[in-house]
Amino acid sequence: MNVVHNTPVSVVTIERFIIEQERLYPEASGELSGVLYDLALAAKMIANKVRMAGLVDILGGNETENVQGEAQQKLDVIANDIMIKAMDHGGRLCAMASEEEPDIIPIPDGFRCGKYCLMFDPLDGSSNIDVNVPVGTIFSVVRKVTRGSAGEMEDFLQPGRRQVAAGYVIYGSSTMLVYTTGQGVHGFTLDPSIGEFLLSHPNIRTPERGKFLSVNDSYEQHWEEPVRALMRRYRGMDGVQKAMNVRYVGSLVADFHRNLLGGGIFVYPANAKSPRGKLRLLYEANPLAFIAEQAGGAASDGYQRILDINPSELHQRTPLYMGSKADVETVHEFLTPAGVTA
Ligand code: AHG
Ligand code: MN
Ligand code: MN
Repeated sequence: MNVVHNTPVSVVTIERFIIEQERLYPEASGELSGVLYDLALAAKMIANKVRMAGLVDILGGNETENVQGEAQQKLDVIANDIMIKAMDHGGRLCAMASEEEPDIIPIPDGFRCGKYCLMFDPLDGSSNIDVNVPVGTIFSVVRKVTRGSAGEMEDFLQPGRRQVAAGYVIYGSSTMLVYTTGQGVHGFTLDPSIGEFLLSHPNIRTPERGKFLSVNDSYEQHWEEPVRALMRRYRGMDGVQKAMNVRYVGSLVADFHRNLLGGGIFVYPANAKSPRGKLRLLYEANPLAFIAEQAGGAASDGYQRILDINPSELHQRTPLYMGSKADVETVHEFLTPAGVTA
C-alpha cells in the first residue's frame, strides 16, 4: 500500500530561507534579516485576528477615520497596532510609516534605532473584511539616508527603486507571505498546525502576457478617452488582441497575487474624482511594483516606472498599471505622450 506523504519535498522555513539569502551577502549585518523575521511574526499575529473576525467583536467599523478620510475598520486598527508593537523594539528600524497614521511613527524612547525605515498598509482591502473576501498586509523597507539616529520624513520620501525589501501577506484560502530583497520573489505558506511559514513558491515568475484584467470600471465615465481606448484594447473590442478575463475583488493584494501567479494586469487609473488615482505610492504601489519587476513584470503610472517616481508626501497617491510586462507596455501605446520615454 503506498503511503501518501503530505510533507513537502523539502521543508524550508522562512527563517532558514532568510538566513540562506543573507549568506549571499558576506558583508550583511543581519539587521534586514531581523526586520523580515519580525514581519513574519506580525503576519502570523494579524492572520490570527483575521481568522477570528466574525467570531469576536472585531468586524465592522471603528467609528473613526484615518488620515485619508477613510472609515477605519476595527481590523485596520488592530492590524496597525500589531505591526507597530511587533516592529518598534527590534532595534533595526529608525522609524515607521503606516496608511493608518498621519505622520511617521518614531521608535519609542528606550529602544535602539536601526538603519531601516518600514512603511506599511496594515490591512489592505478592509472594505472586504465583513464579507470574507481575502485581505492583505503590504510592506516596504528602505535604508535611512539622513544623519542622526531617529528617522525623518526625508528617509521615507525616497523613490521606490531604493527599496531593499518589499512584500505582502495575503489572508486568503491560506495565509501566504510573498517578498523580495532584490533576489527574486519567493512565497511562503503558513502551516497553522506548526505556526511556520514554509517555502511553497520559490522564484515566482509572472507570465509575459496575462489573461486577467483587474479594473473597477464603474469609474469609466470619469476616465479620459485614452484610458477608455486602452480598456477596449484589453477587452478585445478593437480587434487587436483576445479579450482578457475581468477579475476584480477590490482587494489590491488579492487582485495582484492572482495576476502575479496567473498573469494579468491591475489597473487603477486617475479619474475625475481621484485625479492622482486612489492607491498610495509608498506602501501600496512601490512595494508591489518592486515585486512585479523582480518577477519579470512591470509597473507604471501611465507615463513612467512607478519605482522612479520621486515622492513629495507620505500618503501621496498614484495612478497604477501593474502586472505582466507586455500588458503594461500596451499602456504606453495609449498614454505616454509621443516623445516621452516611458
Ligand atoms: P485599503 O483597504 O488599504 O484602503 O485599500 C483598498 C484599496 C485596494 O485594496 C483596492 O484595490 C482598492 O482600494 C479598491 O478601490 P475601489 O473600491 O475604488 O475599486
Ligand atoms: Mn490598501
Ligand atoms: Mn489599508
